[in-house]
Amino acid sequence: MSQPRYFIKTYGCQMNERDSEIMAGQLDMLGYQPALTDRDADLIVINTCAVRGSAEEHAFGYIGQLRQLKDKNPSLTLAVAGCMAQEPGTIAWLTKHAPQVDLVFGTHNLHQLPELLEKAQDSDEMVIDVWKSAGDVVEHLPSHRKDGVKAFVNIIYGCDKFCTYCIVPFTRGKERSREIEPIVDEVKALALEGFQDITVLGQNVNSYGHDLEPKRDLADLLVELERIDGVRWLRYTTSHPRDFSQHLIDVIGASNKITHHVHLPVQAGSNPILKRMNRKYTKESYLDLIDRVKEKIPDASLTTDIIVGFPGETEADFEETLDLVRRVRYDAAFTFIYSPREKTPAARWEGRDPVPNPVKKDRLNRLMELQYQISWEANQALIGKEELVLVEGVSKKNDRVWACRTHANKVVLIDRDPGQDLLDRFVPVRITGAKTFYLSGVQAGEPVSDAVPRRRLELPMV
Ligand code: SAH
Ligand code: SF4
Ligand code: F3S
Repeated sequence: MSQPRYFIKTYGCQMNERDSEIMAGQLDMLGYQPALTDRDADLIVINTCAVRGSAEEHAFGYIGQLRQLKDKNPSLTLAVAGCMAQEPGTIAWLTKHAPQVDLVFGTHNLHQLPELLEKAQDSDEMVIDVWKSAGDVVEHLPSHRKDGVKAFVNIIYGCDKFCTYCIVPFTRGKERSREIEPIVDEVKALALEGFQDITVLGQNVNSYGHDLEPKRDLADLLVELERIDGVRWLRYTTSHPRDFSQHLIDVIGASNKITHHVHLPVQAGSNPILKRMNRKYTKESYLDLIDRVKEKIPDASLTTDIIVGFPGETEADFEETLDLVRRVRYDAAFTFIYSPREKTPAARWEGRDPVPNPVKKDRLNRLMELQYQISWEANQALIGKEELVLVEGVSKKNDRVWACRTHANKVVLIDRDPGQDLLDRFVPVRITGAKTFYLSGVQAGEPVSDAVPRRRLELPMV
């Protein structure tokens, strides 16, 4: 019999992407092979995200579509995993509307995938196994990483911050740090395999190590990781402004491996809104943090996340957000309309004091307009500068152009000489043009990294 094939559809953040790599690793061990599309698969895993209503709707829509595939091929196994699976509302919806699903498991027991799959394949009923809370950190799980030189490494799971709008503490459980040693070993092994762009992951990486004995912190960990030969770029995501320590700023400023991209989600500029969001900082303390970052890391590329239309947000509150954006001058911002999430305090307030939808949309548009202008100006200021970029692939729109990224995730397009394979190489470029969302440049020297052997031809994930 030919090997069964799997397809993993991943929604949400990098933590979900990393979980999908671990699921793929477990499936490889079971003798599965990656399928190129869902139509070629014997097993489809939908790794879901619950952070906003729109993410959930995408997943529900996709699960609905899969009914047709299942009708055509009854031996197809469908599994729903990830953050939505942790929500009782999703389980109720699946049992009522999606009998085509064979297995549901959550974020805390993805290491059980092999046994759960066997159970589901032996059962006529939908197998639902979701742990309410997290067990101990599980080390040494197999993993099937994407091709290339970028790798994600978990350092802390869960989140204890309970921002009042956010579902993540409910879907990912309490904070649990990995010990430093297994993280260092993992990054050493990755560097030996040729991974040079390492991102350490957590919902709040600045909380790293507070639960370890003895206590450790993110700065300690980054200092250990930057010593590893072969690591060229070291990044971390996501960081919370609340515990972004001066020591961490100093360590980043002094490092030439920890990238000078500082992502500090602010969410809002109004103090009353920040208080009700439970963010535990004020506009003033946030601006002070940004000043200290700019002082120690003068070439920092700053980015943020902002929510508009939080319950009770007035025009004056929103103006505070615009004012903060003007003062910080972010390189880019991820902007969201507030989406009520079941079980969270803000969802109750949304019932009493919602910002009307057209006002939410208008605020989002005004915020984006301001940010786009600032992003354009920030990019213009890079013209004439030299940047090291990672060549990520041939541009989808023009096969004579390479699409590259700077350490701060800015896209740079450079001309492609078909005779030279620069894929996955680090190349110096000079910036020659700038738009709001991308830069253009010319190669300004030979690649600084060697060619990386292609490891796998097929990508199992999207
Ligand atoms: N741990 C990260 C955030 C992860 S979620 C942090 O604290 O920065 C990514 C972003 O989604 C958040 O920063 C926030 O801007 C947005 N977000 C979270 N919950 C949301 C909600 N209910 N509605 C709209 N946006 C939300
Ligand atoms: Fe959500 Fe706040 Fe935790 Fe970020 S820090 S994951 S926004 S609760
Ligand atoms: Fe979404 Fe879960 Fe990440 S809710 S943003 S996939 S932690």
